[in-house]
Amino acid sequence: MSTADHAEILQQISKLLKKEYSSVQRGLNSICDHLKNNLKAYDWVGFYFSDFENQMLHLKAFSGTPTEHTSIPFGKGICGQVALSNENFVVPDVKAQDNYIACSVDVRSELVVPLFLEDKNIGQIDIDSKTPNPFSKEDEELLSSVCKLVSATYGNLLKQL
Ligand code: SME
Repeated sequence: MSTADHAEILQQISKLLKKEYSSVQRGLNSICDHLKNNLKAYDWVGFYFSDFENQMLHLKAFSGTPTEHTSIPFGKGICGQVALSNENFVVPDVKAQDNYIACSVDVRSELVVPLFLEDKNIGQIDIDSKTPNPFSKEDEELLSSVCKLVSATYGNLLKQL
């Protein structure tokens, strides 16, 4: 996927969010559907948000096969590590990771990008792929921009999910 395609996808997502500004849930679900349907390597797309009191992540929207991992403790798996590190986590080969939670045997690679609200890491977008090593810097940039759009659109409503 070229940067130009990514720019177009970001623009489409920005439009979707303008339409769905009144419902966080619908907005997040349409982003998941849009990314999964328009980017070939994106086989599962989901948003997890942090419950700081219980140090847990909870799945709030997704597109793809339902997962049993709807709640993940901070520190566990790729998602749990991102909840603590506040950094993007690119996994070209999930088999090379010790601290990894498998959602499906078909998954080969994963990309998790944190979502910040007022500089605090409050959640993340998680992409699973059946393709080995498909993610580039452009994917990280696209997903960071998507997370920024989500924060700017919904702000404090994201804390009440
Ligand atoms: N693989 C993730 C778990 C979430 S599923 O990908 C939907 C992890 O290791 O944290």
